[in-house]
Amino acid sequence: MTTDSKKLYIKTYGCQMNVYDTERMVDVMVHEGYTVTETPDDADLIVLNTCHIREKAAEKVYSDIGRLRVMKQKQVKNGGKETLLAVGGCVAQAEGSEIQRRMPVVDMVFGPQTYHRLPEMTKAADKAKQAGERPRIVDTDLSVSEKFDSLSQKPITPKKTAFLTIQEGCDKFCTYCVVPYTRGGEFSRRFEDVMQDAVKLNDAGVLEVTLLGQNVNAYHGMSALGEEWSLARLIRHLADTTDFKRIRYTTSHPGDMTDELIAIHGEVEQCMPYLHLPVQSGSDKIVKAMNRHHTIATYMKTIEDIRKVRPDIALSGDFIVGFPGETDADFQKTMDVVRQVNYAQAYSFMYSARPGTPAAAQDDQVESHVKSERLAELQAELNRQQRAFNDASVGKIMPVLLDRTGKEASHLVGRSPYMQAVYVDVGTEEAAAQHFGKLVDMKIISAGPRSLKGEFVN
Ligand code: SAH
Ligand code: SF4
Ligand code: F3S
Repeated sequence: MTTDSKKLYIKTYGCQMNVYDTERMVDVMVHEGYTVTETPDDADLIVLNTCHIREKAAEKVYSDIGRLRVMKQKQVKNGGKETLLAVGGCVAQAEGSEIQRRMPVVDMVFGPQTYHRLPEMTKAADKAKQAGERPRIVDTDLSVSEKFDSLSQKPITPKKTAFLTIQEGCDKFCTYCVVPYTRGGEFSRRFEDVMQDAVKLNDAGVLEVTLLGQNVNAYHGMSALGEEWSLARLIRHLADTTDFKRIRYTTSHPGDMTDELIAIHGEVEQCMPYLHLPVQSGSDKIVKAMNRHHTIATYMKTIEDIRKVRPDIALSGDFIVGFPGETDADFQKTMDVVRQVNYAQAYSFMYSARPGTPAAAQDDQVESHVKSERLAELQAELNRQQRAFNDASVGKIMPVLLDRTGKEASHLVGRSPYMQAVYVDVGTEEAAAQHFGKLVDMKIISAGPRSLKGEFVN
């Protein structure tokens, strides 16, 4: 790589799917001769890969654009290069050219299904700039398959853990959610295409793969032979034909947890004992109003079944408090479910009314202070459960995949099978370099609210 190569800065907001998309954008642009920079200041191209899920996430993008505008103005004043500013991801999909109307400093807007065209868009933008025009590029087409076909031809940046998107979009239309609008309808990638990417990751030395989808357990990819592949069958095939030591999948919808998939957790060694299964609320009335296509009883039955085949499974979930019409009694039902399930980890949010979604139009919105009180009560219990789960790990020996560097040069961080962050002090920077990327047995010696500390066995 030459030192005068162009620099790319990407900031990622939102879910793992956006993290995956960011990685793919990097692959695409590295192929074009770009290198990645950690600061926006010296970038030739800045990409904000945005999230529209809650108001706060979406608004944060605008304050970041505001800061970047000031940075760009300074650069121009000092006679420096003028950075291209692109907004991608789900806010871009939802708002399109409205972003450039509100923030004219934005040169390019593209959605989650068009980022493979980033090289062309960048070239067009550069050309416009050279001609003294303001590039006003907007590409928010929603057809998914072209994207994957194009991306599959690009080499990947090697790592030890990797995401692999197998399914995208959503047809469930939960009444609070923007995803069906920002990502489009449910789309399962073809079996052979998924396998081609999986083999590529395997050959690059990836040890842990996380299969991604908005509703990953609804995966039903077709093969060239016309066979339908379920997620369970795909996991089994990956376990049989690759060297992946660990296979994970996320996010699952409770309505699509088939018996076949549950059984996998007891049968496939590589399938990690961790399941993210969002219930959102513990009240049947609210779950129904959310259009979640499951009941609390069916959710609890799934948990029971999975614990039968994998008693040590770590469960995680998502919760929304203060959905329109949620009473104190409804909220207490959520607390009941939480106490019954006993989560190892969880994400909880105050309901955020999103433009264009049915729930936003309901007239029984919950007052903001009530939402905050409920969230505090819920999070106190979830934090207590997570802490107890972590405390129970102390003294145990478990394999940890050390795939990240820690706060100090001699620290490494990795994940336990149960998705807990485990850190270890290996003494020196040299030792850290030596152990980086290894899957090692570690003894857990202490626990904190969000992480564990381990030491090598032997
Ligand atoms: N497909 C996944 C979730 C995608 S969004 C699923 O169905 O489980 C991730 C989480 O954000 C959701 O599970 C939900 O808890 C939360 N969320 C989505 N829309 C929201 C909204 N309008 N307000 C608050 N939280 C929301
Ligand atoms: Fe959103 Fe519901 Fe689809 Fe999940 S299942 S992405 S919450 S609409
Ligand atoms: Fe956000 Fe889009 Fe993911 S709205 S949560 S980045 S699918």
